[in-house]
Amino acid sequence: MIPLEFDRPMQTPRLTIRLMTDADIDAITAHESRADVCEYLLYEPRTRDEVAEKIADWAIRTRLRRDGDFLQLAVALNDGRVIGELYFSLVSVEHETAEIGWVLNPDDQGRGYAAEAAAALLDLGFGRMRLHRIKAELAPENTASVSLCLRLGMREEAHFVEDMFVKGSWEDTGVYALLRREWEAQA
Ligand SMILES: CC(C)(COP(=O)(O)OP(=O)(O)OC[C@H]1O[C@@H](n2cnc3c(N)ncnc32)[C@H](O)[C@@H]1OP(=O)(O)O)[C@@H](O)C(=O)NCCC(=O)NCCS
Repeated sequence: MIPLEFDRPMQTPRLTIRLMTDADIDAITAHESRADVCEYLLYEPRTRDEVAEKIADWAIRTRLRRDGDFLQLAVALNDGRVIGELYFSLVSVEHETAEIGWVLNPDDQGRGYAAEAAAALLDLGFGRMRLHRIKAELAPENTASVSLCLRLGMREEAHFVEDMFVKGSWEDTGVYALLRREWEAQA
């Protein structure tokens, strides 16, 4: 596995994926403050101040080198408007495994932007970093997220029953994953 320094934005046909800055606080707050967006996320809707505090931390996280290192990246249209974010965490150096996550503003869902952005991140993980496996963990009833996993070619690997106590109740977790050889076979 090759450690990553996220030193330049990634471009896709319609999107730029880059580190966040203070200038993104309003755009990120626009979706992170919404109850519908947070329904299946581990956190409650955030205030602008909470988002500002998060972005101050995320903006300086640029490396994936040790277990637990993560990137929280802005997803912007090529005209600069931020429509969402991606999470990419190095789960295990030894097992060359990362985890991916995604959030889009509801106004910008249903256009394939999450799939386009996530595919670029899978390319980075499997191509530049030479990772062995990338997984996504989700609430199994989050059908939009399940569809996205399947669209990316991920396989359902596990369904844990009431393994997490989230926002006051026991919740299930679905695990989807993709291996580098499977990703390369799709190309
Ligand atoms: C999960 C989430 C990111 C998925 O977003 P999304 O926009 O549905 O995902 P995609 O980018 O894969 O887009 C797929 C949709 O775009 C449509 N689409 C339109 N144009 C497209 C194009 N050019 N290419 C691909 N798909 C396109 C697809 O048909 C599909 O529509 P459908 O859902 O009606 O079948 C979004 O629902 C979200 O942010 N949810 C809230 C946060 C959350 O729960 N995150 C996940 C935690 S595990």
